[in-house]
Amino acid sequence: MEITKICCIGAGYVGGPTMAVIAKKNPNIKVTIVDINQKRIDAWNDSDASKLPIYEPGLAEIVKETRGKNLFFSTNIDQAINESEMIFISVNTPTKTYGKGKGMAADLKYVELCARNIADVAKSDKIVVEKSTLPVRTAQAIKSILDNTGSDVKFDILSNPEFLAEGTAINDLLNPDRVLIGGESEEAIEHLATIYGSWVAQEKILRTNVWSSELSKLTANAFLAQRISSINAISELCEKTEANVNEVAKAIGMDSRIGSKFLKASVGFGGSCFQKDILNLVYIARSYNLEEVADYWEQVITLNDHQKKRFADNLISTLYNTVSGKKIGFLGWAFKKDTNDTRESAAIYVADYLLNEQAIITVYDPKVSNEKIQQDLNYLNTRSEAENSKLIRAAETPYEALKDVHAVAIMTEWDEFKRYDWKKIYKEMKKPAFIFDGRNILDKSEMQKIGFKYASIGQ
Ligand code: UDX
Ligand code: UDX
Repeated sequence: MEITKICCIGAGYVGGPTMAVIAKKNPNIKVTIVDINQKRIDAWNDSDASKLPIYEPGLAEIVKETRGKNLFFSTNIDQAINESEMIFISVNTPTKTYGKGKGMAADLKYVELCARNIADVAKSDKIVVEKSTLPVRTAQAIKSILDNTGSDVKFDILSNPEFLAEGTAINDLLNPDRVLIGGESEEAIEHLATIYGSWVAQEKILRTNVWSSELSKLTANAFLAQRISSINAISELCEKTEANVNEVAKAIGMDSRIGSKFLKASVGFGGSCFQKDILNLVYIARSYNLEEVADYWEQVITLNDHQKKRFADNLISTLYNTVSGKKIGFLGWAFKKDTNDTRESAAIYVADYLLNEQAIITVYDPKVSNEKIQQDLNYLNTRSEAENSKLIRAAETPYEALKDVHAVAIMTEWDEFKRYDWKKIYKEMKKPAFIFDGRNILDKSEMQKIGFKYASIGQ
């Protein structure tokens, strides 16, 4: 079989950028990204590249270069499945909100729907690649659905987890630390390795069995999240002892065994993956009665929840133990800089907590709209939609968001926040003017010189 056409089901944060880069680096392969969401596909096809549904530095340029040549976006899922030799599944796998494993296990219903869809329409042999993060042994379930169609179409299943981080997705895809391909069929593995091989050195392409590949993805995210919870735990100790967490992180990070990355203390990690994948790992461990293993990893989440709550509590106690009727200005709503993604963002939980204390919040995020902020809060179901829209709103400019506020809370580490006219902001705020820097991005002495009461994490 020669691979001339591939498709990807799921035009999201993973499917979109990954397929765009594959198309760019393999001009002879036709790449079609399909999705059930017509609005999303229309946005991907918008001639104005600033309207793409996902903001990622460098993405719009690649889409402009390849779209209509060998990269296509469509809702015609059946046709794309039919004509492709290789099909990626990149649909979302949220934490279950119902039934067995509620709040812990991954909800695989979309993945299963995709497998059934492929089984129904495929008329020739296919390689099916799992790109979504999945619990170990999901490939088995997909295989069982595909193998029991009654037709003699042959399916090979590969696991090819994605390690890109949002905000740096294009660079991560172009220069990956490694590409991981798990599978049984050597031939299928080599087909996929050839596609990546057009820009990734072969020694960086690891071939493993399916289970190792699936578990490696969960483990990588658990280790990364664990580093953040570890440094955040130390940040609380620093605040009590007058040690400085930035200095501690630098000192330990220079130990080459520890390494310097992912040691930034923060208001807590967010994003669609870390919490979900750890909960998933914990759920799997418990299902094998591995209680110590499950408890060990669960603590990473417990500490992260504590860090978010601690940030909000500190803000309230500093503002003389009440924020009722006080205005708080948020800088940032996205879960990290350079993305418009807000899934599991610490800002959502801190805002919800402060709204319970009757604060009034204005938000400025360069890439997040008021509509999205309302959706994120309404999803929590803590209060009515009308109340949310009365108590919190996004402003058009940072200066508008921070005018007349009692305190500024920095929730995301957008670079532009450092460049604002902080003297002007100070002048227009209520006094004493407080800054709670949840990302340690501002210069403490400079802020104090302007007159701010400045609090950061772990200092
Ligand atoms: C990805 C992975 O798939 C997920 O497992 C990983 O943990 C995080 O990253 P992501 O691309 O971020 O998910 O998700 P999202 O942006 O929500 O995109 C998924 C897309 O799949 C959506 O556009 C949705 O409309 C589409 N979809 C979902 C389908 O086309 N068919 C379905 O049956 C379900
Ligand atoms: C993560 C993994 O890094 C990636 O490999 C995987 O494919 C998907 O999940 P992502 O969630 O997109 O990527 O972003 P990441 O850069 O890992 O940041 C996650 C969260 O941790 C963000 O909220 C970020 O602000 C926070 N973080 C990160 C810290 O608080 N401190 C750090 O030192 C690093």
